[in-house]
Amino acid sequence: MNNTTDLLLSRASCRKFSDTPITNEDMNAIIQCAKQAPSAGNMQMYTILNITDKELKERLSVTCDNQPFIKDASHILIFCNDMSKWDRAFTLFGAKQEGDKSIDEADFILSMQDAIIAAQNAVIAAQSMGIGTCYIGDIMENLEIHQELLHLPKYVFPCCMLVLGYFPDAPIIPPHNRYTNKYIVCENTYKELTDEEIGEMFSIGTHEETVSWMKRFYDRKINSDFFKEMGRSLNKAISEWKK
Ligand SMILES: Cc1cc2nc3c(=O)[nH]c(=O)nc-3n(C[C@H](O)[C@H](O)[C@H](O)COP(=O)(O)O)c2cc1C
Repeated sequence: MNNTTDLLLSRASCRKFSDTPITNEDMNAIIQCAKQAPSAGNMQMYTILNITDKELKERLSVTCDNQPFIKDASHILIFCNDMSKWDRAFTLFGAKQEGDKSIDEADFILSMQDAIIAAQNAVIAAQSMGIGTCYIGDIMENLEIHQELLHLPKYVFPCCMLVLGYFPDAPIIPPHNRYTNKYIVCENTYKELTDEEIGEMFSIGTHEETVSWMKRFYDRKINSDFFKEMGRSLNKAISEWKK
């Protein structure tokens, strides 16, 4: 273990921030670290929206499933997977001819990987600077509203959002537990867990307690309105990237 692994193991999502705004110097360092993330073909298929406007933060607080702490963050970074710039450059420089392959769902997924990997670099850089972060998955909901609010052209999708702020004086939240390797890591090829192992993995106490918790979890996540809206938005976004 070393300073970097200690940092990684101490990270937890932060939803309460100090009132002190993040300095430009710190934000620039975070963005520089985000951009240094690995990227397929070094194409950097993303655009980072650095949201500082108070009204825009308030709107996002509402459109992202009414989470008030979003507006209290010093900064919001929205990572958009973006093939718009490359698509235009291919055309502008005559690389792409009539009838050649156009942008499609595969580009959506590849560019999304680029954007999310860059976001995670930002998270770790921020943590090292005393700046807490929290991902907000709900930016992938309300596609039409976010497209208009953020002026997003075709082939640009807001795939992940981070709220950032200096840690408050209050004690920092300790890191959450993770599943043990037995349930997460396979050597070489995939090994399907037995029903018994699935039972053990998700057990939170007695059988009845686990049944009740699992039902509440399912209803709160998979079966919830926000999850259905996210699915609708994502399917629509992907369909807009289809030829
Ligand atoms: C894709 C993604 C979306 C998330 N969306 C939200 C969110 O909308 N609101 C929130 O409070 N936390 C959100 N989180 C944070 C998770 O709840 C958090 O990472 C998880 O509970 C594990 O806790 P930890 O980050 O403190 O280890 C999101 C995390 C990820 C990776």
